[in-house]
Amino acid sequence: MASITIRNLDDATKQSLRERAARNGRSMEEEVRHLLRETSAPAAVDEPTWPEPGGGDAALAGKQILLIITGGIAAYKSLDLIRRLRERGASVRPVMTRGAMEFITPLAAGALAADRVFTDLFSREDEQDVGHIRLARGADLVLVAPATADFIAKMAQGHADDLASTIVLASDRPILIAPAMNPVMWNAPALQRNLRQVREDDVQVVGPMRGEMAESGEAGLGRMAEPLDIVAAATHMLDDRPRPLTGKTAIVTSGPTHEPIDPVRYIANRSSGKQGHAIAAELAALGASVTLVSGPVTIPDPHGVSTVRVESAREMLDAVEQLLPADIAVMVAAVADWRAAGESGEKIKKKPGKAPPPLKLAENPDILKTVGHYGKRPSLVVGFAAETQNLIDNARAKLERKGADFIVANDVSPETGVMGGDRNRVRIVSAKGVEEWPEMDKQSVAARLAQEIAARFQTAMA
Ligand code: C5P
Repeated sequence: MASITIRNLDDATKQSLRERAARNGRSMEEEVRHLLRETSAPAAVDEPTWPEPGGGDAALAGKQILLIITGGIAAYKSLDLIRRLRERGASVRPVMTRGAMEFITPLAAGALAADRVFTDLFSREDEQDVGHIRLARGADLVLVAPATADFIAKMAQGHADDLASTIVLASDRPILIAPAMNPVMWNAPALQRNLRQVREDDVQVVGPMRGEMAESGEAGLGRMAEPLDIVAAATHMLDDRPRPLTGKTAIVTSGPTHEPIDPVRYIANRSSGKQGHAIAAELAALGASVTLVSGPVTIPDPHGVSTVRVESAREMLDAVEQLLPADIAVMVAAVADWRAAGESGEKIKKKPGKAPPPLKLAENPDILKTVGHYGKRPSLVVGFAAETQNLIDNARAKLERKGADFIVANDVSPETGVMGGDRNRVRIVSAKGVEEWPEMDKQSVAARLAQEIAARFQTAMA
């Protein structure tokens, strides 16, 4: 019987075999065996079902997302994106371009998606299995992340010379792209022209963000949006849940405040803004028109929300007062209770041999209390109580003193990891009593809180 040695195949065949084997997670020998079996006994053509969705009860539950990964360094973040989408209940079917496979492997994408990865327009297997038209039409959303400058150009021109671009052209589904590229490319007139074109063609765009580039020493606008921001944008597009807060306005404060001591020093706290930003996004998802007043944070502005950035407590109060009257106020910011009494115009100098300068403090305005007692008070005022001791007693006292309808109390002792972390365990303290919620991620706390606000708001209005 004749035997074939892979080593003796020509280079092009070897390369294509290597790519197929990598895609399918097989050794080259196994791939050859598979091919031979396949040609001698043709496989039945069944339309593969979408992979099992991950758990989750949010807006993405049961949604099918075709994730096109194109060739940029940001492709590594797409692996996390798959995980985040599935966590929220979506099924993810990855499609990778040739360029993407230079950065991440189909094996990794497929393992995270729990599905096979589609790569080839001319693959007999891919076309028999699903076909680019069915791939293009079977999804609730086509998500391109990262979307390179080249892929955006192809989209703008309607090219269809590989599986990914063909799917986009053949798709009648909503499309969301997350551009990622060098800032100079992002600012190039040709790219901006193509971007205008794809926007005009009804494609939604999330990001890019400002920040460090993979190339050392380069920074600017061009980093791909973080996976959770892409998830938020996708959620926004796919969310077909009822929007009970439509027509209502909401103000949310979030993050820390920075209280200047002199031009270079300030008093601050460890708040990340994650919880407040997530609440703003969830209220917007329920239809409210939300303005987020954010202290200095490093996380991006949430999707679907208008964001006002401030530094100090006094600036935060000003911004909030400008936004009143409103229907709902949720004060999540960790506002500094005190500021330096008298900010120095010059950097305070260390004097050798002299005692450190005294730091005199003055009390900051209480924004929640101001809003809770405002003439045209919002119909629903919600405060937070971050405590390290006597959580419930302190929250009850705050309810009364600050004029809030309810207080979300959380223990921020260092061992809880709540400050700056991703998870939270809260209790809802109101005149009705105390309701304990299980520990969940801050996104889920935000989703449940927004539902609670919508319910209480409707009850209050009835
Ligand atoms: O008094 P305490 O800082 O614990 O109160 C927390 C609640 O009050 C949070 O809702 C916070 O956003 C709000 N707050 C405020 N302005 C302050 C202090 C706290 O809005 N100066």
